[in-house]
Amino acid sequence: MSQKINGVKGMNDLLPGEIEVWQFVESTARTLFGRFGYGEVRTPMVEDTALFVRSVGEETDIVGKEMYTFEDKGGRSLSLRPEGTAPAARAYIEHSVNNQEPVSRWFYTGPMFRYERMQTGRYRQFYQIGAEAYGAKEPAQDAELMDMVVQFLEALGLQEVTLNINSLGDENCRPAYHAKLVDYLKSHREELCGDCQQRLERNPLRVLDCKNEKCQAVAAAGPNVLEFLCEPCRTHFTDLQRKLGALGVRYVVNHRLVRGLDYYTRTVFEFIAAHPALRTASTVGGGGRYDKMMKGLGGPDVPAVGFAMGLDRLVLLLKESGKTFIQRPDLFIAVDETSHDEGLKLASRLRREGLKVDFDTRGGSLKSQMKRADKSGARFTLVLGEQERTSGQAKLKPMAGGDSVPVALDNVAATVRAQPEAPAQAPVS
Ligand code: HAM
Repeated sequence: MSQKINGVKGMNDLLPGEIEVWQFVESTARTLFGRFGYGEVRTPMVEDTALFVRSVGEETDIVGKEMYTFEDKGGRSLSLRPEGTAPAARAYIEHSVNNQEPVSRWFYTGPMFRYERMQTGRYRQFYQIGAEAYGAKEPAQDAELMDMVVQFLEALGLQEVTLNINSLGDENCRPAYHAKLVDYLKSHREELCGDCQQRLERNPLRVLDCKNEKCQAVAAAGPNVLEFLCEPCRTHFTDLQRKLGALGVRYVVNHRLVRGLDYYTRTVFEFIAAHPALRTASTVGGGGRYDKMMKGLGGPDVPAVGFAMGLDRLVLLLKESGKTFIQRPDLFIAVDETSHDEGLKLASRLRREGLKVDFDTRGGSLKSQMKRADKSGARFTLVLGEQERTSGQAKLKPMAGGDSVPVALDNVAATVRAQPEAPAQAPVS
């Protein structure tokens, strides 16, 4: 017997029955982000490795440890995208979008790849839905973006998510903070993990998001970045908070929030869910401002701010909520042995008229079809036999119980639609 081949570790299949939750999240985002003026962008899943090295940063875990990098047959170093911000910026630069409009708003959704240690809510192929606003450096843009995420979470029905914000300053004020941080970390060198002892020299901010508990304890007692902000960065951060207040967006200031990517300047933020189902993967989304990235990638000097949400984690939370996302059939058509062709035709016609119809193409006894009708979660079953065909009249049997409804075979769709909707039966798997 041939050996069975399994999927790749950390990369999941999404089957019908589960995919409906994902579709709900994606369609909610599409509708809402559209209201805020965001258009969808689709970039390839593979990029030149240098794109991520130069934007996300060589010293980050994402680039240093987690990227799927390979050489193609032409000897180029390519990487599966670990995130969506750098690819979108690459596309923005490549298509000279800044010459076409002063402000652009893009969103994207799709798989990202990071070779991470797997656990609940942390996978090697995972999905993000993200948005980027290019061309506005004002804090109003940051606030509007965060408001969009809040409205998105509201539309999904997800409460108990806390917005954390911070400012990392810019090239003017960050060096002083860096110097202080390095001094502080050096005095605690022995308590840091091996990786952090190296990071300390090359990229001290990365020590602050090391997952090692000892490093986290050292980081927690370190200098406060907000005390080092220069005047323009402080004003930007104060204005942001004022605008969030005006929008009624609730937040907490968390001076230890640094994020795991190097490209941020000024604003950074994360949305943290309280639900225990996510365990250590409680950050459902994050983002920030990256005003210097475009230029660093050889593009124009265009400021930008964006975020990405982890779809896998949003889906986990929604499943916990116990809501139903599966659209059940409106009608199951069961037939006797003389009416199979007529049943097939009736199902086809009703689907053309917009009903979701289930029909057992295998035929079989009426009893077995009725069992299948029960399992299908359909609202109604219509039995089509010789008598119904000759009279042109049948009955709609409500599967949730109650009296059958007489129906003319040429008026089934309208009759089904006219029936009041009963509560859903099939729970989300
Ligand atoms: P990030 O924080 O690396 O930011 O990822 C954003 C979200 O993706 C996380 O909050 C988390 O929900 C989800 N995520 C990350 N890694 C995994 C994983 N291994 N498994 C499941 N979910 C995961 C970014 O990627 C930035 N590009 C966000 C951004 C956009 N900044 C500016 N614009």
